[in-house]
Amino acid sequence: MCGIVGYIGPKQAQPILIESLKRLEYRGYDSAGIAIINEETKKTSKKSELIFRKDQGTIDNLTSILDNNTISGRVGISHTRWATHGPPSKKNAHPHIDCTGKLALVHNGIIENYNQLKDKLIKKGHEIVSETDTEILVHLIEDNYNGDLAMAVRKSLKTVKGSYAIAVIHETEPDRIVVARNESPLILGVGSNENFIASDVPAVLKYTKRVIYLHNKEISIVNNNSIEIMDLDGNTIERDWQEITWNLEDAEKGGFEHYMLKEIFEETKAIREVLRGRVGEIIFPELSIYSNTIFHGIKIIACGTSYHASLTGKYIFERLTRLPTTVEMASEYRYSEPTHDTPLVILITQSGETADTLAAAREARRRGCRTIALTNVVGSSITREVDDIIYIRVGPEISVAATKSFVGQLITLYLLAIFIAEVLGHLKPEPAKELKETLRTLPSVVERVVNNTSEIKNMVKSLVSAKHIFYIGRNINYPSALEGALKLKEISYIHAEGFPAGELKHGPLALLTKDTPVIAILSKDHTYDKIVSNLIEASARNAPVIAITSESDDEIQNIADQVLYYPDVPSLFSPVPVAVILQLVAYYTAKKCGCTIDKPRNLAKSVTVE
Ligand code: M6R
Repeated sequence: MCGIVGYIGPKQAQPILIESLKRLEYRGYDSAGIAIINEETKKTSKKSELIFRKDQGTIDNLTSILDNNTISGRVGISHTRWATHGPPSKKNAHPHIDCTGKLALVHNGIIENYNQLKDKLIKKGHEIVSETDTEILVHLIEDNYNGDLAMAVRKSLKTVKGSYAIAVIHETEPDRIVVARNESPLILGVGSNENFIASDVPAVLKYTKRVIYLHNKEISIVNNNSIEIMDLDGNTIERDWQEITWNLEDAEKGGFEHYMLKEIFEETKAIREVLRGRVGEIIFPELSIYSNTIFHGIKIIACGTSYHASLTGKYIFERLTRLPTTVEMASEYRYSEPTHDTPLVILITQSGETADTLAAAREARRRGCRTIALTNVVGSSITREVDDIIYIRVGPEISVAATKSFVGQLITLYLLAIFIAEVLGHLKPEPAKELKETLRTLPSVVERVVNNTSEIKNMVKSLVSAKHIFYIGRNINYPSALEGALKLKEISYIHAEGFPAGELKHGPLALLTKDTPVIAILSKDHTYDKIVSNLIEASARNAPVIAITSESDDEIQNIADQVLYYPDVPSLFSPVPVAVILQLVAYYTAKKCGCTIDKPRNLAKSVTVE
């Protein structure tokens, strides 16, 4: 996700901007850039001059460009870009500059109505050079600029839909940085005769521990020794700074002990990002397939956690679209010898770099299939191997254990299934509306789960000494059982297996003892009674039984040894809160076992070998 830093004060801006930007590297990025107002302009007659540098690649790469070409100046902004619109490239990197070359802007977020704004700006003669949504903002501000930068920003933002944190400088107003935010984070660091802006606290902690959090739809004029905050109508807002009590190390993980926990807690926001601009009338403008003639069946291919999302996707697709849906492991797909393949193949990969999934994409194309990739990483290798790309937009995931990306994949699959079902006419407006309304409730459902971890922390005490743990589920929660087991084994090193609950009696039951906990996932649907029976069978073999079920289940506490409840949701959507609980179970178990968690032994975030 993009990172923003700004500095205004008596010191040279460039080293401060670079140093602070490095503190935001953990957010993930693909390009970096800087703009500074240079006040020692000998070559021109101007009092001050905007100078910028940017490129694809690392901050070190940007630094090497600056090494021979230091920009002197005491006000500047800088940026790390995590591509959303347009692949990583020099022209798509920030800052973006207006047609006059005097105005520079950096942005984090997504401008949803950029296409409409772009058309208008082009008609007015603006030359758009990048593929980004961001560049539209800089031209919009230029269009509204009449000698007052803050006024132009306010006026422009009133016409913008979407999320933004922005920082803007103009060479004719070198005494200020104008910033604004809506749904994307931005903080102001309060110094002594100097001020800072940043996407996140770690960027400024070296210089100050006093910060002001900007709220949605607020703008601020930041000078050396004053910070003025106002709403988009120009009404002044009074806000005091707060003292940060974390140290730098803590702050990079946002105060969380591990990235994995941070990323689980980010799931509420991640779901909102996945849904943004897509739920309502569901459209996937990125898809070139709108013809229902190709929808004869769907195959989903992936590895690991993405494979489990795919298996859940099979239940979602079959329920909503009525299309036969098969799922294959990417590493096995190439060996299959189908007489005919489904024409639509969806490849799911968080990183977009998994070698097995890339090979499967090539094979699917070779077989003449239409391919769609669901990935989190813009410009990743998979995007060059498929016909269409859908980005899941959950932001960078640093912990090896996939958490928020899994939830993001599920939400994207619900959206895609509703979209295809509507295209095929299998979903009438009323049930479609209900499904979309339920999707909109999921952020608050997940928020309730992550804000209530005490029962989970208590429950995991019974898992830490186990050598084997079984997870069981039926129907749409059978893949949840597989994913729960994978999450636990990869970070806690406790052997765990997931089974369809009905399969226990066909073999695994032989392994059950009082030392083999069984975690059963239930939802109040047509599978409920059957899985309760399986749970009783396990209990009869003295296995400790833990049930994960919905809040309205008032029977299970009489049967299971321990119960974890999730907020009531229709069973089709239960894999979402269930996934969050299972991730937290894995996390707190691994923590109790003293494991490293974010970097488990032998594993890598991107598996680029076959
Ligand atoms: O980047 P991908 O989604 O293609 O990665 C696939 C698997 O390597 C990945 O999901 C792996 O299983 C996770 N570390 C599990 O948490």
